[in-house]
Amino acid sequence: MGSSLYTKLSVALMLLVVLLGSALVWITSYTTGMYSQEVTQRLNSPIAMYVTNEQQLIHSGQVNKPALQELAHRAMTINPSVEIYLIDTKGLILGHAMPPESVVVKTVSMEPIKKFLAESEALPIFGDDPRAGKENKVFSVSPILEDGAVVGYLYAVLGGQKYESIRRAVEDSFILQIGLATVIGSLLLALVAALVIFFVLTRRLTGLQRSIEEFQQKGLSSNFVLDIRESGQDEIDRLAVSFQTMVTRIHQQFEALQHMDKTRRELIANVSHDLRTPLASLQGYIETLIIKKDELDGATRQHYLEIAYKHSNRLNSLIAELFELAKLDSGDIELNSENFSLVELVYDCVQDYELQARNRSVRLSVQVDGENPFVYADIALIQRVLQNLIDNALRHTPPGREIMVKLRDSEANATIEVIDTGKGIAKHEIPHIFERFYHAKDNEPSEEIGSGLGLAIVKKILELHQSSIRVRSELNHGTSFSFELPLKSA
Ligand SMILES: Nc1ncnc2c1ncn2[C@@H]1O[C@H](COP(=O)(O)OP(=O)(O)O)[C@@H](O)[C@H]1O
Ligand SMILES: [Mg+2]
Repeated sequence: MGSSLYTKLSVALMLLVVLLGSALVWITSYTTGMYSQEVTQRLNSPIAMYVTNEQQLIHSGQVNKPALQELAHRAMTINPSVEIYLIDTKGLILGHAMPPESVVVKTVSMEPIKKFLAESEALPIFGDDPRAGKENKVFSVSPILEDGAVVGYLYAVLGGQKYESIRRAVEDSFILQIGLATVIGSLLLALVAALVIFFVLTRRLTGLQRSIEEFQQKGLSSNFVLDIRESGQDEIDRLAVSFQTMVTRIHQQFEALQHMDKTRRELIANVSHDLRTPLASLQGYIETLIIKKDELDGATRQHYLEIAYKHSNRLNSLIAELFELAKLDSGDIELNSENFSLVELVYDCVQDYELQARNRSVRLSVQVDGENPFVYADIALIQRVLQNLIDNALRHTPPGREIMVKLRDSEANATIEVIDTGKGIAKHEIPHIFERFYHAKDNEPSEEIGSGLGLAIVKKILELHQSSIRVRSELNHGTSFSFELPLKSA
């Protein structure tokens, strides 16, 4: 708690209030003191003059001691705090009526006296107090004339000790005390109010901080929900909202990462399995050939070699497809897009599969609706898409049926559709066929089974083209895969 925001704010505020209060008290006392000094000096300024007019205090440079005593006595009767000195024109004290040991200096400074007489400065003007050495007091002064010339001054120190008088001024004044009490009271009240406000505000911050700590302890996998006020959102609420957004995003990313990690692991398991199967067969046949070299007749040997060859081919194409997909996945593949005639590309691809189709007694045809559309795409990658789709259609269409590649063009796009009349895909399997290594159940003779990567590659390539693949299928009736490409760019 020692270093909490609340403590810091409170301590700072209290210091501020104490400082402000002290300054206020000091300023009030000081100005009041000065004011009382000014009043004293103003009221008493004629005193020296009255006194000098009474009797000749200096006569031919000699102090008239009895007269001085008399005058001092009289002045003190009027105002007990008045002390009277006789000084010459340079400030040397010529005489006074005080006990001799109480006067500690021989001269007083002439500067304030001159200012006082010239009335060149605002009151109060402070002069030396011979009884206290250098301490400044308000005074009154009047020149003493002899035959029209100034021969000295009557110097009257007014009032007691300066600070004493300030304190007394404050102590004596009821109004001043009330005023000060009011000011200090309001300051204290403001302090209490501010402390309460600070407490309320920092409590909300503390709450937020606790939630953050709780989240930290629970770990990244928790979907943490903060208690956020709906109305009157201030900075603290917005901080909470930002924190909540951050937590939600972290949670989502964490889940995405976990999902990715899971798929990656499955992928590795699938790759190992799919590579091992043909490799094991390949090894098995080659081993048999080596061991039973002399027992096998020519035809069997040929047969075994053909099977081994087929498995090695399968291994080869599986690895090639894996590489292809990895490259597409890596993200640093760049599309080599250009304008080309879609019809020409489709005819080229279909031609490559014509022999295969004839061997399977499947009719493979192209139908073009509308004009000969030019599209803007990566021709090599689109060729891969067509190859994969036609290859799938051929493998899943029984003899005697047909496959058609249809082209259509609209305002901005050309649509390519590969339609077969094969065995179709069960509804529950459709969402999975684009997954890596997915093979729909029991619809292929085992030695013809593909890699399960073809449609994943198709999907990826179309994603790179900002397009997508659609599939419609009906079990035992056929399947259609279709996608769109943008028409030739200007
Ligand atoms: N034209 C089609 N007719 C029926 N099933 C299909 C068709 N095309 C794809 N499939 C199903 O989708 C699965 C995934 O296809 P694909 O990713 O190309 O892998 P592969 O062809 O190597 O098996 C296939 O195993 C098959 O079950
Ligand atoms: Mg395939």
